[in-house]
Amino acid sequence: MTALLDYDASTAETLRSALGPDTVVLPTFDALKRHLETHLGEDAVVIGASVDIESALALASSMRVNRPSMGVVLVRRRVDTSVLADALRSGVREVVEERDLPGINAAVARVKSLASSLRETVPGASSPDDSGEHGRLVTVFSAKGGCGKTTLSTNLAVALTEGGRNRVCLVDLDLSFGDVAIALQLFPAHTIVDAVALGDGIDVSSIESLLTPHSNISGLFTLVAPLDPGSNRGISAELVRKILEILRQEFDYVVVDTPPAFDEQVLEALDQSDLIALIATLDIPALKNLKLTLETLDEINFPREKWAVVLNRSDSKVGLALNEVEKTLRVPISIQIPSSRDVPAAINRGVPIIFDNPKHPVSVAIRQFAEKYVLTGHHGDSSIPPELRSDRRGLLRRKAKTP
Ligand SMILES: Nc1ncnc2c1ncn2[C@@H]1O[C@H](COP(=O)(O)OP(=O)(O)OP(=O)(O)O)[C@@H](O)[C@H]1O
Ligand SMILES: [Mg+2]
Repeated sequence: MTALLDYDASTAETLRSALGPDTVVLPTFDALKRHLETHLGEDAVVIGASVDIESALALASSMRVNRPSMGVVLVRRRVDTSVLADALRSGVREVVEERDLPGINAAVARVKSLASSLRETVPGASSPDDSGEHGRLVTVFSAKGGCGKTTLSTNLAVALTEGGRNRVCLVDLDLSFGDVAIALQLFPAHTIVDAVALGDGIDVSSIESLLTPHSNISGLFTLVAPLDPGSNRGISAELVRKILEILRQEFDYVVVDTPPAFDEQVLEALDQSDLIALIATLDIPALKNLKLTLETLDEINFPREKWAVVLNRSDSKVGLALNEVEKTLRVPISIQIPSSRDVPAAINRGVPIIFDNPKHPVSVAIRQFAEKYVLTGHHGDSSIPPELRSDRRGLLRRKAKTP
């Protein structure tokens, strides 16, 4: 059911017919409050443009505390950034223009889907918030593009939900070319850029209102990258820090997908990470970049116990032996993900392979990684086995110049 408050009877009727027959029109605030008290399963409230903004925001503020799964959709004649920022700060889930009837309908559908995802998350499942602990943050990184970061991060996030037992948030920090939304076939109402307008008012409910839940994968939420590569200005490292801190309080696991570069936002994510999955493929440029990344992490004193090296497309027949790679990098490889044309096919369908085909060798490898390195609280492969320690020769050593 959807509750609709609008003082203007004809607008209320237009909205009701757009929203469908299970919409209850309430003519006054008191009537709405009574309705909510007696309908505890109500998931969505639409507040029409005739209702003053102060009362609407006050209702949203009180609901986010008393009925966190219920979402308020605010309808305004015009939506500008100041209305949007005030609304999100108060816990309003979506703000839509009055003439955009399909947009209002879609917003209500998203609010209901979020509410059911929030309810479906297993009751009594340990929430990091209950214990005062933080959820674990895993960043997937490679300094070279196209190694499989988005493939690993999306599938890892799905694996960590463990069929809805955990709440997982996947954050796309590839702010210019992020493709998590495409890989998961999401139609986000908000992106991380909307957090810029929140300024100092950023808090749990305003960030939650920016998340896009996955409609088929229970427990999986995403904070997606801007859809337009030019619109990422204003997403400072400080903002990323705050967003990740808040998400870690609310979710059991936060997985961060990154661009192929050490930008300041990535460094912020690395700083808060419990584990960094460093991914490479079996080619010299990727391995060279991984080696430089490991050296950079060492230089900034990033603890080695938080590293895990992931070799993607590890069965590619390219003439590089695995033990030689380990010797060159001087770190063990934590997992190997095989190559398969089913991976791009799954991405093209917008369905993570681990969800679509859990028994696929790629899915099995990623689930093993989740189980061994993330779910159990494993802390990376810090120790360098003796056989990898002393060898300073290797694939990436510059050849001595011949006289
Ligand atoms: N194990 C695999 N087998 C076959 N194809 C793969 C595998 N892993 C990734 N790919 C393909 O390689 C391409 C790049 O993968 P992906 O987008 O995950 O990389 P990325 O590191 O996120 O790239 P970018 O740096 O551009 O963000 C995609 O087309 C993907 O389908
Ligand atoms: Mg990517």
